[in-house]
Amino acid sequence: MYNMEDDIERILISEKDIKKAVKKMGKAISKDYADKNLMLVAVLKGSVMIMADLMRAITIPVNIDFMSVSSYGGGTKTSGVVKIIKDLDHDLSGKDVLIVEDILDSGLTLSYLTNVLRQRNVSSIRIATLLDKPERRIADITPDYCCFTVPDEFVVGYGLDYDQKYRNLPYVGILKPEVYTK
Ligand code: IMP
Ligand code: MG
Repeated sequence: MYNMEDDIERILISEKDIKKAVKKMGKAISKDYADKNLMLVAVLKGSVMIMADLMRAITIPVNIDFMSVSSYGGGTKTSGVVKIIKDLDHDLSGKDVLIVEDILDSGLTLSYLTNVLRQRNVSSIRIATLLDKPERRIADITPDYCCFTVPDEFVVGYGLDYDQKYRNLPYVGILKPEVYTK
């Protein structure tokens, strides 16, 4: 039977470390947004894991919504083009929006998104990300909450994909080089 784990060269961040960091992030957010109107906005599909864990680590009332944008094709290189595939269902007026992301890479996606959402009468808009890859940054953007900073390597797992695969791995890892040439 094909096992995805055979494609992993090494685990970069363990399931246990992710749990701990997301829990801590939820605690900080609960404190910072105690008197606010918190709305979590996750960017599909990579952010599904962090969204599910983060919302359970938040102890104050919270609204959630999802949107879908495209910035990547099948490969590992950014196209720089960001398109809204699915917009939010909710009105953002008066909301303290916290965008939940899997990874902040070039930052082009998030920079575009924050600019679009900022124009919808939000009270505030900030970013929470599982991973930050600052070496690759093109846009002038920094996360307000971040669990881990990662080196300039392509990572998969815990929501992050390569060619739509590996999202269901419970940890963040690096693929064996031969996977890319398959
Ligand atoms: P950015 O616009 O370059 O910041 O990248 C946005 C999106 O690219 C992320 O939300 C991911 O879906 C994807 N991405 C960037 N780096 C990686 C990676 O190392 N592994 C998997 N997906 C990535
Ligand atoms: Mg993503």
